[in-house]
Amino acid sequence: MSNPVPSNFYVVTATSELSEGQQLYVELDGEEILLCKHNDEYFAVAYYCSHAEFALEGGMIQNGCITCPYHGAEFDLGNGSVQAPPAFDPIKTYPVKIEGDSISICATPNMSPA
Ligand code: FES
Repeated sequence: MSNPVPSNFYVVTATSELSEGQQLYVELDGEEILLCKHNDEYFAVAYYCSHAEFALEGGMIQNGCITCPYHGAEFDLGNGSVQAPPAFDPIKTYPVKIEGDSISICATPNMSPA
């Protein structure tokens, strides 16, 4: 269960609950989100790939990118931009806030990369 905090940031889990490389499905205000821990940073991106709408969960994460497990498209975790085909469209990313041990995600996505 998530707890609302100011604006539409929601506490979704604790930093102690996510190990390096771990991924977590989160649903906030109808937005389906994949929270990832990579290189001690936290990234919230769309749960579904922009290519054929399969889940990105379980995709390999390296060099700041997640690779779709289905056809291999790569997306930048920071801004959602496409780094490798077959996807053409970026994926949404969401602001993440760390306060103490709490990880909050904003249900309003960032602007897509140009
Ligand atoms: S569904 Fe992700 S690359 Fe095709």
